[in-house]
Amino acid sequence: MGNQNIQTVLGIETSCDETSVGVVRDGKVLSNIIASQQIHSEYGGVVPEMASREHERLLANITHRALDTAECNLADIDGIAVTAGPGLMGALLIGVNFAKGLALRNSLPFIGINHIEAHLLANFIDNNTLKYPFLCLLVSGGHTQIIRVNGYDDYDILGTTIDDAAGEAFDKVARLLELGYPGGPPVDKQAKDGDAERFDFPRGLSNSGNLNFSFSGLKTAVLYAIQPMDGGTRKNQMPHICASFQAAVVDTLVSKIRQAVEDTGIKVVTLAGGVAANSHLRKTMDDMQETYRLELYYPDLSFCIDNGAMIAYAGWEGFRHGKSSHLNISASPRISISSPIFTN
Ligand code: KG4
Ligand code: ZN
Repeated sequence: MGNQNIQTVLGIETSCDETSVGVVRDGKVLSNIIASQQIHSEYGGVVPEMASREHERLLANITHRALDTAECNLADIDGIAVTAGPGLMGALLIGVNFAKGLALRNSLPFIGINHIEAHLLANFIDNNTLKYPFLCLLVSGGHTQIIRVNGYDDYDILGTTIDDAAGEAFDKVARLLELGYPGGPPVDKQAKDGDAERFDFPRGLSNSGNLNFSFSGLKTAVLYAIQPMDGGTRKNQMPHICASFQAAVVDTLVSKIRQAVEDTGIKVVTLAGGVAANSHLRKTMDDMQETYRLELYYPDLSFCIDNGAMIAYAGWEGFRHGKSSHLNISASPRISISSPIFTN
């Protein structure tokens, strides 16, 4: 039996390099404050200890801003949700402990959220026509999976990456090209002026017959392509390298989701995770929607990247389904979507 009294939920996200807090009331987002940590840019990737320190420094302030924007104070909040995994251990613990403190001090119900599930459920935010079952292409910095979503808390992983995640491939290639971190947005931008056929980069596992992905060969192919180039050539070729690389990633993702549609007969497809913000992926999925008569959903950009609103939303759903967590749960850095964090 669900707890229908929990209408307004505060959600906290600190699993990686976004410090974010959001407030959801009755499934609607009242606020979503996201601070994307800039300190990692010069290192070409997230430095875990620095991420934890930034979360610690920012979290109280971001929480105040999320409450202010939602025109709420803590007395209006009925439940506290927090990302409990997967993610960086130290970063997760900052959020989990902060959330426990809030819950304890204000005698509020508490729920630990699986970050991947929250990405997936973000598709329900602002989309009241989405119905189960559906397929989800979850593409983030840490994960690349095709998930069959049968219902709430009922997920089957149909395919997964055997090496790098799609976002990780963007980040690693951006690092090779000295475009900074995170790599997806600058590669996406450069690719707009590029010729996607200039370089013939590999489409990993495209003929494997299963729904798994591989992106590490692609990253190596980009490295080999740029190695002989001098600085000037590399700069001139940059848009073409980015466009050709991006086309290889998107072709791979789209061909696997097409195969998943054929295998399952499910024609409702959702995208989730930071890479779902990619303009070429969105455009290609839009084209495929027409050809295959799909029902296609993707969250608004601010709900694709890591954000507190999706955690609040997943918490609100969890509470509605009668779930909650004990205050003695810890962070679970490597948890899969099929292992829930709830304790009841
Ligand atoms: O979901 P997310 O914010 O964090 C994780 O849970 O990992 O995803 C971050 C990833 C990064 O690898 C980033 O480079 C990628 O999403 N990303 C993009 C774009 N915007 C963010 N990748 C491709 N194109 C984009 N426009
Ligand atoms: Zn994420």
